[in-house]
Amino acid sequence: MADGARLKVADVSRLLGSWARPGEPLPESLAAALIDLIDAGLLAPGTRLPPQRLLADALGTARGTVATTYDALEARGYLTARQGAGSWVRSRTSDTRARTSGRLFSFTTAAEGVVDLSSGALPASTPVRAALAGLADVDLQPYLTTDGYFPAGLPALRADIATMNTLDGIATSAHRVLVTAGAQQATWLAAADAVGPGDLVLMEEPTYRGAIECFTDIGANLQGLRMVHGGIDVDHVRQGIKRGARVLYCQTGIHNPTGQTMRAAARRELADEINRAGLLTIEDTSSCALTLNGPPTTPTLAGLVDPTLLITIGTMSKLFWGGLRIGWIIAEPARVNRLTEQRKAIGLATSVVDQLLAVNLLTTVDAARRERREFLRTALADTETVVSAVFPDWTWEKPTGGSGLWVDTNTDAVRLTEAGKRIGVKLAPGPGFSTYDGLRSYLRLPIWHDVDILERNLTALRGSAGVERTP
Ligand SMILES: Cc1ncc(COP(=O)(O)O)c(C=O)c1O
Repeated sequence: MADGARLKVADVSRLLGSWARPGEPLPESLAAALIDLIDAGLLAPGTRLPPQRLLADALGTARGTVATTYDALEARGYLTARQGAGSWVRSRTSDTRARTSGRLFSFTTAAEGVVDLSSGALPASTPVRAALAGLADVDLQPYLTTDGYFPAGLPALRADIATMNTLDGIATSAHRVLVTAGAQQATWLAAADAVGPGDLVLMEEPTYRGAIECFTDIGANLQGLRMVHGGIDVDHVRQGIKRGARVLYCQTGIHNPTGQTMRAAARRELADEINRAGLLTIEDTSSCALTLNGPPTTPTLAGLVDPTLLITIGTMSKLFWGGLRIGWIIAEPARVNRLTEQRKAIGLATSVVDQLLAVNLLTTVDAARRERREFLRTALADTETVVSAVFPDWTWEKPTGGSGLWVDTNTDAVRLTEAGKRIGVKLAPGPGFSTYDGLRSYLRLPIWHDVDILERNLTALRGSAGVERTP
């Protein structure tokens, strides 16, 4: 949190995690959780806490609980309160200042006994299990005589990533590929190279939480632009360009979290605008191969946008497994060289063994795509049936791909998330996907959970949140 900033209720809810400890009075649990955040630097000195009534409302507790908590924190020197004005985090000995809003909280394994309905990350696909079983047969010999450091990636993997992307319509070659530790690192590298503090960055609203974290970490000025018919509103991009936007981050293929695809004509219009304005564009294609119908992957901006303006990001995480930690950046050779130098500062290279595993897996792309599609189609149908039975008031637009359902709960999803915490159900509400902590009525639900588990936990959630079922 920035110094002096007013902490939003959605931020507190996100950062607190499952704060209520069984058998302990609520004010004690809440105070302990807030102290953890202050000690960790996640609530910086000077941060103004939300008004008691708002926080109590969001957490689904009595106002007295929050009042007692704030009093206890003040007594212990963690807060300064000014009558009628509010409460601020007090400066303590530590000067740690974390630059995160906790948006990636779901990328940590949920505590034991907690059902995680917050992450869309899929379990490993069959080819991963087969490749791991055959790991002993991988010929490491040629690499063992080298120092093992390949900062831009193993030549064989760079070539295979280039070939796969070229077949998918993203024409490229090995020297334009930088292998990274997943698409998240790729996004951070591309973002840190392209923008600095205060620069205006345009992105879809909602968007991928990790991208918001990257640009926030850099201190950029984020502007979320509404989506129309599955893609970013090109008129709003035009206006953003007039306001001096430096970079556009987007997903025109399969968009996380909405699961929508930008229409072809709108994508062409967007590309024309990018070319006309010379707007540097980072396109995240991470979910493009998780299509539910039609061709195995969606089109992207590649081929439409001047290659010097385009940075394409991809990953093995969606099709194969997040545990591999292999992603890539495709860009002009000069940018790839620059980013390769930059990546050395945060990690000298990716493991040779993991990259050889990836080379092996890239021979199974077609089978992996078929398996994911079959799985996700069934999972989506089952999830839609359960969700409409348990929450008939929830609405959504049918996704064209991806592993999540972007649901409008037509109620306060942050409160629902707090109710979930009390019964051991972890949810991802809309503000985490919003550049301005909006979209409070939305939830991103993963679709891949076992239907019985999903039904049981959504039903418990309905009960705990006191949501009436409409007959
Ligand atoms: C759009 C998008 N970009 C990047 C990532 C990060 O992927 P990786 O596991 O490759 O870092 C994800 C993961 O959910 C994502 O959905």
